[in-house]
Amino acid sequence: MNPIGVKIRAVGSYAPEKILTNEDFERMLDTSDEWITSRTGMKRRHISAPEQASSDLGIEAARIALQRANLTPQDIDCYVVASATPDYIFPATSAIIAAKLGATDKPAFDMEIGCSGFIYGLTVCAGLIRGGVHKRVMLIGAETLTKFTNYEDRGTSILFGDGAGAAILEASEIDSFLSSDLGSDGSNPAILLLPTGGSRERVTQAAIDAKRDMIYMNGREVFKFAVTKMIQSTARALEKAGLTKEQCNFLIPHQANKRIIDAASKYLEMPPEKVLVNIQEYGNTSCASVPLALDEALQGGKIHPGDIIVFVGFGAGLSWGAVTWRWQ
Ligand code: ACO
Repeated sequence: MNPIGVKIRAVGSYAPEKILTNEDFERMLDTSDEWITSRTGMKRRHISAPEQASSDLGIEAARIALQRANLTPQDIDCYVVASATPDYIFPATSAIIAAKLGATDKPAFDMEIGCSGFIYGLTVCAGLIRGGVHKRVMLIGAETLTKFTNYEDRGTSILFGDGAGAAILEASEIDSFLSSDLGSDGSNPAILLLPTGGSRERVTQAAIDAKRDMIYMNGREVFKFAVTKMIQSTARALEKAGLTKEQCNFLIPHQANKRIIDAASKYLEMPPEKVLVNIQEYGNTSCASVPLALDEALQGGKIHPGDIIVFVGFGAGLSWGAVTWRWQ
C-alpha cells in the first residue's frame, strides 16, 4: 500500500455567461439544429467575453473550489493549469492565476497536451502528492477555444465552447488514485492543429488572412482515433487497477462529440446511466470538459464515497489517457 494517498477534496467550475445556440449557427452558417444535434449532441456553448482570457475563467473555478474546501489560496502548495489555450506562450497561466488569487510565492506550471490535459494533470498532481513533494495541489483545466475558432468553417465552429474546472487534490490516508494509462502519437500533428503562433510558424498578416491562427482539424480522422483510444485507454486503466468494467460506477469522458462517447460506451458495455454527458450545454471545452462534468455530477448528488470513476480523454497531440479513481 502506498504510504501517502491522494483524494480530491473539492471541485469548482465556471462557464461564461454568453451562450451560442444551434439556432444562432443556423443564422450564421449553412447548417441546421438537426445536423448539429444528430452529429455531435451539442445544443449550446458558453462563449468568453473579448476581455476574458483562460486565466480569468480558471480563477472563477478555483475560487469556487477554495470556498467549498474552506481553504485560502495560500493553503495550496502548487498550482497546475492544463490548457490548450493559455493566456500567453509565456508566462504560465498557472502563475497568473495563483498571483491573482493572492498566492505569489507558490510553485506553478502549465501542461499542454491538447484536450487530454486534465487527465494527464490528474496523473501528475496525484504523483506529486503520493510522492510526498506537495500536500495540496490545485489542478485547473481552463480554455477559451472560441478565440481560436474560425466561425466561417461549419465543420469546426459548431464544436467549441469555453469554460474552466478546478480540483483541489490533497494527501489522504486512503488512496483515491488507482491507475493511469496515458499515451501520445505526435507523428501527424496536422490532424488537429493550431498552425501559427508557436516557434514553427510565426503570426504574419498572410497567416491571419489564411486563418492559420485558428483551429484546423480533420474531423473524420479525429473521430476514428478518439473512439479507438477511449475504448483502449479505459480498458487498460481498469485492468491496471485490477477492476472490471462492471465495477466502474461512472465514466466521465472528455466531451468532444456525443457520437464518440456513445460508440465507445457501447463497445465498453457501459450503460448510459454510468456515462456522464453534458455536451449539450457546453460543447467541447477541451481541458475543462472533464472537471465541468465532474462538478455537475457532484453538485447533482450523483457521486458517492466508494464510487469508482474512470476519467478518460483524448485530443491534439494526438494524445489520450484514462485515470481510475475511487471517490472519497
Ligand atoms: N452543418 C452541416 N453540414 C456540415 C457541417 C455543419 N455544421 N459540418 C460539416 N458538414 C458537412 C460536410 O461539409 C460534409 O459535406 P459533404 O459530404 O457535402 O462534403 C458532410 O457534412 C459530412 O462531413 P464530415 O466531416 O464527414 O461529418 P462527420 O459526420 O464526420 O461530422 C464532425 C463532423 C462533427 C466534426 C465529426 O467528424 C467529429 O466530431 N469529429 C471529432 C471532432 C473532435 O472530437 N475534435 C476534438 C477536438 S479536441 C481539441 O483538441 C481542440
